[in-house]
Amino acid sequence: MEEFHWTKKWEKKNADFHKWNFDLSKGPIHISWFNGAETNVCYNCLDRHVEAGEGDRVCFYWEGNDPGQERTVTYQEMLDLVCQIGNYLRSQGAGPDDEVAIYMPMIPELPATMLACSRIGAIFSVVFAGFSAESLGGRLTSPVPKVLVTCSAVRRGAKPIELKKIVDEALEIVEQSVATQAVDPSASTPHMHQAYSNRRLAEGLSSAALGGEDGSGRKGVPHVLVFDHTQASGLGRDKFQAGWVEGRDVWWQDVIPSQPTTCEVTWRAAEDTLFKLYTSGSTGQPKGVLHTTAGYMAGIALTYKYVFDHRPTDVFWCTADCGWITGHSYVSFGPMLNGATQILFEGIPTYPDAGRWWELVDKYQCTVFYTAPTAIRALMAQGDQWVKKYKRSSVRILGTVGEPINPEAWWWYYDVVGEKRADIVVGEKRADIVDTWWQTETGMHMITPLPGCTPLKAGAASLPFFGVEPALLDQAGNEIEGPGQGYLVIKRPWPAMMRTVAGDHARFEQTYFSQYKGYYFTGDGARRDEDGYYWITGRVDDVINVSGHRIGTAEVESALVGHHLCAEAAVVPLDHPIKGTAIYAYVTLMEGLGHPPDDPEAVRKELVKAVRKAIGPIATPDVIHWAPALPKTRSGKIMRRVLRKIASGHESKLGDISTLADPGVVKALIELRGK
Ligand code: WT7
Repeated sequence: MEEFHWTKKWEKKNADFHKWNFDLSKGPIHISWFNGAETNVCYNCLDRHVEAGEGDRVCFYWEGNDPGQERTVTYQEMLDLVCQIGNYLRSQGAGPDDEVAIYMPMIPELPATMLACSRIGAIFSVVFAGFSAESLGGRLTSPVPKVLVTCSAVRRGAKPIELKKIVDEALEIVEQSVATQAVDPSASTPHMHQAYSNRRLAEGLSSAALGGEDGSGRKGVPHVLVFDHTQASGLGRDKFQAGWVEGRDVWWQDVIPSQPTTCEVTWRAAEDTLFKLYTSGSTGQPKGVLHTTAGYMAGIALTYKYVFDHRPTDVFWCTADCGWITGHSYVSFGPMLNGATQILFEGIPTYPDAGRWWELVDKYQCTVFYTAPTAIRALMAQGDQWVKKYKRSSVRILGTVGEPINPEAWWWYYDVVGEKRADIVVGEKRADIVDTWWQTETGMHMITPLPGCTPLKAGAASLPFFGVEPALLDQAGNEIEGPGQGYLVIKRPWPAMMRTVAGDHARFEQTYFSQYKGYYFTGDGARRDEDGYYWITGRVDDVINVSGHRIGTAEVESALVGHHLCAEAAVVPLDHPIKGTAIYAYVTLMEGLGHPPDDPEAVRKELVKAVRKAIGPIATPDVIHWAPALPKTRSGKIMRRVLRKIASGHESKLGDISTLADPGVVKALIELRGK
């Protein structure tokens, strides 16, 4: 912490630190760290290194989707770019605590825009550029951001994706939704936290929704800054002319390069909001997780430094998109806070072939590589030859994150990817593996090995990071001592912890602190072995982890029910060899359609389309199971346990189903499997 730049230091005798409370019966949950301090995250990521004479150090090696597309951005160049973006955003009225939404592919301008927001004190909200228009639209209403930063189009593998068109569609949804809100502000924000809601209603709705101060005269629509990515995507500006809205849309290249390359820093109090990031939970719509300034900065800088054993000569590569928390903490901020050199890759691991990642590892001499188990399993299935074609001799640490890694994939990562061929390296034979457990909410690594220090076990996230105090609880909420299995909870605050759910502090308290008095509930189950190592067993709530992405069953169900042919739906997880867990949906069709319907394939396609439209391709159900009725208790609660067993073919182990209102339902469902 001392190496960071502070315009004000935190109060040394920080009384609040001892006053934290995780027990709702003792009062509201209010977390704060580094009280009294003032700093700026962007300044610490960039200016600090440039001022120390490190301006020529490479910040990013950018590699585009297609081989041959590449750029190198130094720390000085990154700072210049960030200042230009910051100046422009400010000129559009984005000031401290105003929101800026970002919907961009993995180009240096994406982390640069996040840093620019942090420089001027604006709250950024990145939406993964794989979400559908409806999903994006839903994340742009509370509040409507001042500016939405996007990109014309991008290619993922061979496929061009027209992001600007998705944005146009999303903004139509926003306009409609804001029009309803303006009539009845409480209509679409039933649980809004009073303070937040008042401020937001005052700022967001009266100016943006009612066409106020920003002078644009347009109702409820942000200003849209569009990066022209013609060269890489192959689609030129003319392609976007039809959807272009004068006065709303501006090409990045027309306004950013002419901005000055210095930009005054807005110093932020320790607990000022840094960003909002939506994530799925077990109920309702995704919630906006809020992270603040100093604690987040400290938490991710420290975990980056120790978990990846940072050295100045490192070339770090995290394959996660900046649209997820992993990309926030370990692309946009953690590495830069440590002055690291990174690889930023726009494409996918299998294009043009399954050796692309390892080719890039050699090309840029990557030393620390961080990815997700689902990608490891997918590449494992392609065969060792793709890996062995390349040397990988630079790699010393391999990280994983996002879901439990099965021992088979762990060993393949260790033995095949992490292999140091005898002809290249003398000494260490293998790269260390760090299996890092954490969440959008935790902001930083929580349970993880430290490389070269923690003895490794294949598939264990191992031990808590400094200062993190996990515990396991049994059904009754009692702490389990020693080896055992239970619900994973955390006993006290850590610096990068989320502070609230945007606009809904009650939901924050309800989701994380109401299950077990005095604990932060993670939503995960875990086992602790005789050495105190934690083995994460996966979600225990109604969240499905598909390829490391969190999908709420409620969201998929609501997308299905939104289709006119669907009367009711229930979604459960199913083990999947590559994705970890797949989405298995039981669907009850409207009266008279039959189960299965006359043309099951056509109906299936329609339903899948509805989900992709409402959420995005990542939420595509793998199986749709026709269900004349769903197994419910007499009080009307769907028995998901039964649905899970039927999905996985374990119907002989259904357990007690005597509480079902109609036990006959089960037999019908079993007969319809695979139909
Ligand atoms: C959930 C959080 C944190 C970045 C990516 C996902 C699962 C995450 C691990 C791991 C087992 C893991 C948990 C967690 N998870 N890392 N190393 N081993 N499970 O962030 O979308 O917020 O999801 O991902 O179930 O609760 P997220």
